[in-house]
Amino acid sequence: MEKRCLRFQDISISEKMLYSLFLMTIGIGYLFALTHMYYTHQMRDGQPGMSIQDVMIAYYGSQDQTRLGSAINGGPMEPNLKSADEKEKILAWLNTDKSQTTFEQIISPILAKDCTYCHNPDINPGLPNLTTYEGVMEVASAKAASIPGLVKVSHIHLFGIAFILLFVGRIFIYCRMNITLKRIIVVIPFLSMLIDTLSWFVTRNHPSFAYVVVASGAMMGLSMGAQILISLYQMWVETFHPKFYLSTEQLDLLNKTITTLQKLGLRAITNGKAYFLKLAPIFWQSFTVLARQIVLNIFHTTQYFLHPKLTLSDADQLKSTQYMQLLSNAGYPVFFAGNGWLIKEAALTWQFIGTLDDLEGYLERLPAKQLVPLG
Ligand code: HEC
Repeated sequence: MEKRCLRFQDISISEKMLYSLFLMTIGIGYLFALTHMYYTHQMRDGQPGMSIQDVMIAYYGSQDQTRLGSAINGGPMEPNLKSADEKEKILAWLNTDKSQTTFEQIISPILAKDCTYCHNPDINPGLPNLTTYEGVMEVASAKAASIPGLVKVSHIHLFGIAFILLFVGRIFIYCRMNITLKRIIVVIPFLSMLIDTLSWFVTRNHPSFAYVVVASGAMMGLSMGAQILISLYQMWVETFHPKFYLSTEQLDLLNKTITTLQKLGLRAITNGKAYFLKLAPIFWQSFTVLARQIVLNIFHTTQYFLHPKLTLSDADQLKSTQYMQLLSNAGYPVFFAGNGWLIKEAALTWQFIGTLDDLEGYLERLPAKQLVPLG
């Protein structure tokens, strides 16, 4: 029998659920890691937002962070400089490899003019000696990330991420795709992680390597993201695709059925729309009438429900019955409501009468021809 590697359609649903949850957790964890990185590094260069400058400063350090840089850039020694131009020259030199030649040519004259009458071992042995290159270099070294610190972060990083990449990659291998492409996607995250970590150390000495740090970091994120998304897609969407299970005839039948259903559906929608347009006004009318009746009912119950029970003497009860009878005969049905009478004047118009006298008055105001004498 031909040997075949396992694919997502071969593994059980519980396994897929387990893998999916793992992949999603890793994905969310990665997003949190990105956010964490943003919060820790974004302000390094003094500007909000992540930039390549932030990364350079994180590993290489910056001229602002040297003792000399901070002393003249906003620090207590800045007023001693005669011009802003001089400050820029010193800061620019601090940001290069700080060669002795440039120092002798440009920096030393400035210091001699502005600083060395205090910073001179003969006068103030306790202050940094700014008369010699060696003395200046003592306060001029950028505070790069420390090697022990980087070593610590690196080993944690490599151990931790290797496991994540191993499991994510192991699941990803279940995917069906071009085998060369798959091999590349499996290798990339590991390679980029290694390059990323190594370039931290290189960036300590060569700030332009920050670009490699960013590029390899992004590469790792993207390739791991691709592995996660492709795996999830193939696990849940593609695995159930009928083309993996059906013969050509069966597929044909399936397609025909789908087309028929689509046609039926389309017809149903068209007819439904026509009927709807035809019936809509009727429905609308009934609806508004119903709504009005409901509102009216609510109105009447809330209006009269709480009234005390109607109490009448025998004689008045007789009168009331007669009046109600007369009104009903005239086409105005009357009902007891609360402590009064409710006269239905029209389909939606009701009149409430509170006393027997008012009921009599109402009766008298009706046109005589409407009244049918009680027989
Ligand atoms: C009037 C005397 C005087 C002049 C001029 C002077 N400094 Fe200073 N400098 C001091 C004193 C005093 C200290 C130590 C006290 C302090 O740190 O504030 C100091 C400290 C420093 C430090 C060490 C800061 C630290 O982080 O420990 C640096 C760097 C420095 N000065 C650079 C300069 C430079 C560059 C100039 C010329 C632009 C300059 N100073 C001019 C008196 C002076």
